[in-house]
Amino acid sequence: MNKHLIDLSDNQTFANGFPHEFFTWLRENHPVYWHEPTNITPDGEGFWVMSLYDDINSIMMDAKTFSSDKAGNRTGGGTAIKDEASAGKVLNQTDDPLHRRLRELANKGFTVKTIGSLEDELRTRTKRLLNSIKVGEKFDFARRIAREIPTQAICIVLGVPEDDRIHLCELIDKGVEVNSGSVIAAEYLGKVRRYAQALIEKKRAQPGDDIFSKIVHAKFETDGSTLSDFELRSFFALLFPAGAETTTRSISGGMLAFLEHPEQWRRLRYERELIKPAVEEIVRWTTPSVYKRRTATRAVDFRDKTIRPGDKVTVWEMSANRDERVFESPFEFNIARSPNRHLGFGAGVHFCLGAALARLELNIVFDEILLSELNFKPAGTVEWMPNNRLVGVKTMPVRVASRN
Ligand code: HEM
Repeated sequence: MNKHLIDLSDNQTFANGFPHEFFTWLRENHPVYWHEPTNITPDGEGFWVMSLYDDINSIMMDAKTFSSDKAGNRTGGGTAIKDEASAGKVLNQTDDPLHRRLRELANKGFTVKTIGSLEDELRTRTKRLLNSIKVGEKFDFARRIAREIPTQAICIVLGVPEDDRIHLCELIDKGVEVNSGSVIAAEYLGKVRRYAQALIEKKRAQPGDDIFSKIVHAKFETDGSTLSDFELRSFFALLFPAGAETTTRSISGGMLAFLEHPEQWRRLRYERELIKPAVEEIVRWTTPSVYKRRTATRAVDFRDKTIRPGDKVTVWEMSANRDERVFESPFEFNIARSPNRHLGFGAGVHFCLGAALARLELNIVFDEILLSELNFKPAGTVEWMPNNRLVGVKTMPVRVASRN
């Protein structure tokens, strides 16, 4: 690999998984690296690439200097390499005071108690799914198991009726599959938006006991107002990529890690109390939300470089989570790792809203696989998503060797 020519804006760079070798080299040689513009970066701009844990953590903790929304008179903060049309409007792409406003009400739905109350339903669904699998059967773990539980979890959170779920997920999948920004993608997204609007109206008139109903009806303490339709629709649309795609990739990447490190699976089988640190290690290992982008609002020095106001700064949590300066043997998958201060869920004011739910889902899925005593074996080539944003396994054929 020519380390100097790697293009991080090109999804194909991620077609075989995360380019760890390049980032190890960056951490060692160019921790504050200027990525030249490429013909793939749509705005024709270069961007900084931050790869060290400490730098990334301090950038995420300083939302004033590193804006998720916009900087100075420049629009287009967003969290992806390319400027997002939603910058400045959606929870993860706003700064205070708007961010605080949106988050205040979202937090009212995502309490520890409410998330905990989802456990029984998610466990029952996982059990049912695993019971349907037969010894000798070969199937795609990514699609049949890893995708199913997180998608169901988001639908439960949003109070999407059971009968609508398949159709809604098809629309969302198609919107993601076709080129983003294309006319067809816009058509699918339009359909999703219309669905969301109808659901919001339904929840307004007749609240259910789902989290979304709580958020629809939640009132600001200051003036008693509620979130607008636009804010609610944006939140609805955000939860599928932010909540379902990420957790799906953690589950499939976690299973892949266990297949590649069978001694860790055996250990978990005999030391079940390790499930909690195992879940943290799976999130560190897979880091499905691999990077974020911020925009500098003022000049700031990092090591021997000066970042100028308006510069785009990308922070690569996947690299932070393999930083040799912070993690002992970072390329070892170790379910008992302690301490494990990974940045898989981010840091600071944008810290993952759904972290408790993601942890619960991962806990349930791996715990139930152990309980089911299903023994998965690799049964074909693993394919990765060619995507620089949500890196992870796309297809993972497995065979059920036995029920122990
Ligand atoms: C393993 C699974 C997950 C991972 C790795 C993950 C990762 C992250 C990260 C790194 C951020 C920070 C974004 C930033 O700094 O710009 C974030 C934010 C967020 N996550 Fe997650 N997430 C996961 C699961 C979920 C789930 C299950 C939900 C919802 C049910 C969720 C909803 C959100 C939302 C709404 C935000 C934006 C928060 C804000 O900007 O205030 N995530 N997530």
